[in-house]
Amino acid sequence: MARVRVVRWTWIVLAGLCALATCELQQQCPTRAEISPCSCTLKKNGLDILCEFTDQQHISSAMGVLKRKEFVIFYLKLRHNNLRKLPAFIFLGLDIRHLTIHNSSLSTVEETSLSSIGKMLTQLDVSQNSLTAVPSAAYKSLHQLLILNMNHNKISNIHSRAFLGLDTLEILTLYENKITAIEDEAFVGLEKKLKRLNLGGNGLTEVPQKALSILDTLKKLEMQENRLTDIREGDFEGLRNLDSLGLAHNKLREVPSRVFSHLTLLNSLELDGNNIETIDPEAFVGLEENLQYLRLGDNKINTIPTEALKRLHRLRHLDLRSNNISGISEDAFLGFGDSITFLNLQKNFIRALTGISFENLNSLETLNLQNNKLMHLGEDVMEPILDTLRVVDIMDNPLICQCDLQWYKNWLRGLKDKDDEMMQKKRTVCMMSLEHREYNLQHLPLEKLNCAIKDPNISTSGSSRIGYCVAVMGMWASTVRVV
Ligand SMILES: *[C@@H]1O[C@H](CO)[C@@H](O)[C@H](O)[C@H]1NC(C)=O
Ligand SMILES: *[C@@H]1O[C@H](CO)[C@@H](O)[C@H](O)[C@H]1NC(C)=O
Ligand SMILES: *[C@@H]1O[C@H](CO)[C@@H](O)[C@H](O)[C@H]1NC(C)=O
Repeated sequence: MARVRVVRWTWIVLAGLCALATCELQQQCPTRAEISPCSCTLKKNGLDILCEFTDQQHISSAMGVLKRKEFVIFYLKLRHNNLRKLPAFIFLGLDIRHLTIHNSSLSTVEETSLSSIGKMLTQLDVSQNSLTAVPSAAYKSLHQLLILNMNHNKISNIHSRAFLGLDTLEILTLYENKITAIEDEAFVGLEKKLKRLNLGGNGLTEVPQKALSILDTLKKLEMQENRLTDIREGDFEGLRNLDSLGLAHNKLREVPSRVFSHLTLLNSLELDGNNIETIDPEAFVGLEENLQYLRLGDNKINTIPTEALKRLHRLRHLDLRSNNISGISEDAFLGFGDSITFLNLQKNFIRALTGISFENLNSLETLNLQNNKLMHLGEDVMEPILDTLRVVDIMDNPLICQCDLQWYKNWLRGLKDKDDEMMQKKRTVCMMSLEHREYNLQHLPLEKLNCAIKDPNISTSGSSRIGYCVAVMGMWASTVRVV
């Protein structure tokens, strides 16, 4: 404590002296001619240098000019260049904080090319180049690095100890490489700080379990867009702080028993875009206390996997869009539906719903049933959720105009502000089979259907109100599509 205070006072005194002596704290860009074809702009924290569409020789000479002055180069961005090799000592004498070498055909990073800036560099982006392996020797002295972006390269194998020395690294992204193999000790050295790892868009056929198992601090793991065909119990062992797991767009056919059992802090799980047909009743063991977001869309699921979901009593967001669900059993949401606020069932084959299907969904705010095969959606089904519901999408269903669709209009009337605006944009219609035409659900022709009108206000407030409604209906009728 005492020492901290002394240091602070020292700074204040120094700053004061500086002000008196009018120290030149502010930096200035070199002239355009000096560093051409590169350009410079002055930012609050230092210089921002950009070199585009040029080559190694020009870049090296611009660096030569910069190193004669004591600049802080906050950003050095080298883009769209011909820079196949990053030569030794190219940045010697420079203080660079964020370095980008993007789309510059980079394939060789010499061992001593980065060592001189290792004490200052916090972000390194070498995306969209031609790297075929992790340039470990060049990386090993980057002891301040927080973010390393190697997206869009041609790396096929992450060798053992590839990132050794990067003990401060928090974010590592390797999206869209050609990775098919990750050696068991690949991530050694990253176990103290790594929070995010993106291995998406590669060719992995199995979870690199051994390599991942040491990543104790990892919060977000992305392995979407790979070729995973199986996941097994134990695959995620060791990732005890994981918060978010992305496995979307792989080739998984099944979610087996206890596969996530080590991920007790997991909050979000993405399994959409696979070939999943089977979900074991024990598939989500371990996720009871923390899972809130579950995406299972674009799979081949035939029914709501109630048995597996039952234990997820914190689940808020359940996405089952584009599956092969044709019905929802009466107890589909029994035991876990209480906490669900968002339920997406669009693009399935749901034909009918019964009165108690939704009874447990006491917190539901958004319901999407768009593009199903529903012909009826009566008040008895919707009644349990109408109080909490703020958005409902039932477009693209073969609904038949019937009196029991009156809930829709009455419910709409209670909406406010944004929810109301959002709902007014939806064109939700039913088919009046006798007339072969569609009606908007807001303007259900109650008289023609001989409905007992359920709106208390209309039934008690006299004929003028009804007259108004009929007029509106007439206006509407003239604008709807005639089938
Ligand atoms: C990559 O850089 C080259 C010049 O070296 C340029 O012609 C090309 O458009 C750039 N590609 C992208 C995607 O920016
Ligand atoms: C979809 O479900 C139906 C039964 O409801 C079944 O006959 C069909 O084979 C399923 N299709 C797929 C792709 O699983
Ligand atoms: C009915 O009218 C009362 C008083 O005018 C109003 O407070 C209430 O919101 C109305 N109910 C509906 C469903 O429109």
